[in-house]
Amino acid sequence: MAVSNVQPTGIERTFGEDEIIISKTDSTGKLTYANNIFLDLAQYDEDEVLGQQHNLVRHPDMPRAVFKLLWDTIQAGEEIFAYVINMSKVGDHYWVFAHVTPSFDANGNISGFHSNRRVPEPGPLAKVKDLYKSLLAEEKRHTSPKDGMEASHKMLIDILTENDVTYDEFIFSL
Ligand SMILES: Cc1cc2nc3c(=O)[nH]c(=O)nc-3n(C[C@H](O)[C@H](O)[C@H](O)COP(=O)(O)O)c2cc1C
Repeated sequence: MAVSNVQPTGIERTFGEDEIIISKTDSTGKLTYANNIFLDLAQYDEDEVLGQQHNLVRHPDMPRAVFKLLWDTIQAGEEIFAYVINMSKVGDHYWVFAHVTPSFDANGNISGFHSNRRVPEPGPLAKVKDLYKSLLAEEKRHTSPKDGMEASHKMLIDILTENDVTYDEFIFSL
């Protein structure tokens, strides 16, 4: 969980269609780079984010299952696309469509990760909000966060299986 006690304000922050929010992390998820658009939206100064874990901008409405899928995928050396709601320093939120990729060193080992985020399209985003509400409700039915995450991860995998699609196919079908 993020270390901060800041609560969501319900106020949405937006950014331009021509803007890209960029951050880079080391192989453990600690921020090594954030561009100015990232800093503006998240309402942090650069020295407050560098060296911090990326869950600094975690919003409590994000299902744990999505982050499990994200980490399982990028640690396996693959890229992933994901819709994410993030929280700024004061508790405002902003939705993004993220493309997260691993970076490799000369020996082919993962040296860190890179995320580019754009404004999500309203149509897919509305469907994602419904999906995330269901996943989050499933997580909250369990007292242990681990059990909750496993249950919502299973819910997500079952949806993919029922529709006979991969996660990527599903995301781009929204
Ligand atoms: C390159 C990269 C970008 C990430 N971007 C975000 C992000 O924008 N928002 C977020 O909440 N988590 C992001 N994460 C995932 C976080 O590392 C973390 O898994 C997530 O916030 C869940 O935190 P928690 O396990 O403390 O609940 C990113 C991870 C990587 C490697």
